[in-house]
Amino acid sequence: MSKYSKAVVHILYQYEHEYISGQFIAEQLSISRTAVKKVIDQLKVEGCQIESINHKGHRLIQLPNKWYSGIVIPTLQSQQLFDHIEIMENVDSTQLLAKQNLVGNTDTFLILSDEQTQGKGRFNRPWESAKGQGLWMSMVLRPNVPFDMITKFNLFMALAIRDAIQQYSNSKVAVKWPNDIYINHQKVCGFLTEMVANSDGIEAVICGVGINMNQTPSDFNDELIQKATSIRIHNHAEVNRYAFLHALIKQIEYRYAQFLEEPFSTIRDEYIAASNIWNKQLRFTENNKQFKGEAIDIDANGFLIVLDENNKQHQLISADIEL
Ligand code: BTN
Repeated sequence: MSKYSKAVVHILYQYEHEYISGQFIAEQLSISRTAVKKVIDQLKVEGCQIESINHKGHRLIQLPNKWYSGIVIPTLQSQQLFDHIEIMENVDSTQLLAKQNLVGNTDTFLILSDEQTQGKGRFNRPWESAKGQGLWMSMVLRPNVPFDMITKFNLFMALAIRDAIQQYSNSKVAVKWPNDIYINHQKVCGFLTEMVANSDGIEAVICGVGINMNQTPSDFNDELIQKATSIRIHNHAEVNRYAFLHALIKQIEYRYAQFLEEPFSTIRDEYIAASNIWNKQLRFTENNKQFKGEAIDIDANGFLIVLDENNKQHQLISADIEL
């Protein structure tokens, strides 16, 4: 990649759908028009649809389904959560990479990847992370809090992700306690929160988020189509990945500040209203034990209160729930 391609792609994106002259781009970057043409030719080879017309200039029609750091970094320039942002084309898992990269420093950071070859979900389940269609990311944060606050962190993150997706969905977006986001009866996002802690408290929280952003129904295999959906399916148009990422990080910043300052009770009503687990029989798996029951409340600590088939009450910190 040429050293100017990040800047050129950013300028083209800023003026998306408008013609801008090679001369204008050259002046912005203090480089020659020939250098600009070379970069634009390379971007076209990479899959950028750019129309170039003599005496009119270049017009960005569409970007390929990949993260350009030249756009991500300026799009997120106002964010205060991360010391740095890493953008990968391909990685085994952003979560694994985040865990490696947090060692020996105190940085906060975000890793985004176009594709994951070994994406992992909760309970070590495989997480389908096809190239270009989803938002696969891991955040490393360093809250100065005791380690038992991790459950509370999860609850705040769920609302952040739900609110961001809701901005793009014509259908209601719901939280399925504790780690899933649903649209109607299908999962649009799963996230998981891990931590590194010592006796003083949390060293790092590693939150991995997988969001089905731009899949069409034909992108899901026969098994997934039953239980998964994407934002695009409920938006009826392709989602601008940069605008969505910006909206998501803004929501995460807001909820993270709230998490640090407020008790769960501040968002309890909101969380309960956003949840999709009420008034139905559910199957719960907790520590390898299964039982059926009905969720009846989320208490002031964020624990789920469940009444099982024998009318016995359970207080769950975490569990796998089948709707
Ligand atoms: C779940 O629903 O079980 C949680 C899924 C979490 C998937 C994300 S995708 C980005 C990050 N990297 C991973 O390997 N997993 C998380």
